[in-house]
Amino acid sequence: MLDLPKIKTALVGVGNCASALVQGLQYYSNSEKEEEYIGLRSLFLGGFHPRDIQIVAAFDVNDRKVGRNLAEAIFASPNNTVKLSNVPQTSVIVSKGPVLDGIGEYTRNVVEVSDLPEVNVVDTLKETDAEIVVNLLPSGAVKASQWYTEQALRAECAFINATPVSIASHATWAKRFEEAKLPLVGDDLVDQVGATILHKTLLKLLSMHGVHITETYQLDVGGGTESLDTLERTRDVKRGIKTRSVETALPYKAAVVAGSTDYVDFLENKRDSYLWIKGSYFCKVPMQIDLRLSTVDAPNAGSALFDVIRAVKIALNRKMKGAILPISAYAFKHPSQLLSFETAEKAFADFIRGNV
Ligand SMILES: NC(=O)c1ccc[n+]([C@@H]2O[C@H](COP(=O)([O-])OP(=O)(O)OC[C@H]3O[C@@H](n4cnc5c(N)ncnc54)[C@H](O)[C@@H]3O)[C@@H](O)[C@H]2O)c1
Repeated sequence: MLDLPKIKTALVGVGNCASALVQGLQYYSNSEKEEEYIGLRSLFLGGFHPRDIQIVAAFDVNDRKVGRNLAEAIFASPNNTVKLSNVPQTSVIVSKGPVLDGIGEYTRNVVEVSDLPEVNVVDTLKETDAEIVVNLLPSGAVKASQWYTEQALRAECAFINATPVSIASHATWAKRFEEAKLPLVGDDLVDQVGATILHKTLLKLLSMHGVHITETYQLDVGGGTESLDTLERTRDVKRGIKTRSVETALPYKAAVVAGSTDYVDFLENKRDSYLWIKGSYFCKVPMQIDLRLSTVDAPNAGSALFDVIRAVKIALNRKMKGAILPISAYAFKHPSQLLSFETAEKAFADFIRGNV
């Protein structure tokens, strides 16, 4: 296999998601054979192995994380996701960025802001040769997400927005990245085994079989900091994004509710999603599905982040610019244009093969 240059990536927010990503990079670093990469959609994507992703910089505000080696910061409280691997010391020390609206009323009780000085984020990105910035801020951090998007533009980096803040789906930002000749993808990463994808697949299957769905909901509880922040600041935004996404699975209108619901601290980073579907089939005989999906939240972002970072590197190599729909529609809940599951999968495969 050709020895490709590393994909120099900067992380904004060293929370649970960043922890799973960094631990996953270590976990899969020596995978070569199929049986060693259970849990990934693809070991090689466009020729890139996950070990080609190199984290070169990381930013946070929490005093337990700023100034510490990334290998330690990912395990610092309030991060509470599962241990996936032993991460050796890295060359990255977590830098402090501005707080802005990063800490909400509820998360203020679990995050102490570092009193170390803020770094110049653009300078740090340039000094570390970062080419991709991944936004993993809390979903309520709207101003901070926009601020880091601006810094990425100034440092000439591509931008991946994993949060539900409207960036890649926003025409103004898309135009700015187009003018800067840089790729932009987002918004709101799709989970690998998330309730939304499961819900959409079930609805699609049922409607294909002639079942008429009248009412359905998908609600969940979690115990990560993100669930706490959602409770206070982004429940309605997330509900809107998820509900619109689920609605696309049905070829007709039904009563659909999908969204994050509540915070249960002792669940830690675990998430329980409850799906309920009501409809009727032959001769209007009623049917009902009631199921629970139990996952751990942060590792659910790992495989998608591996794919998205490698795909954005491919877009950079091809000098693509602006919002990149084949990546956003495949890996995010709120792209600039919602595509059906099959169309998005095909568009991504075509993109990787170089057919778009
Ligand atoms: N499966 C998933 O985990 C998943 C899926 C889809 C989307 N997302 C999105 O990814 C994002 C991250 O999720 P998470 O579970 O890691 O959240 P988290 O709350 O665990 O982590 C957020 C991190 O950002 C830091 N932070 C806060 N303000 C900051 C600032 N101004 N500058 C720098 N750092 C700051 C916090 O200290 C924390 O370390 C969320 O927006 C979430 O909606 C996650």
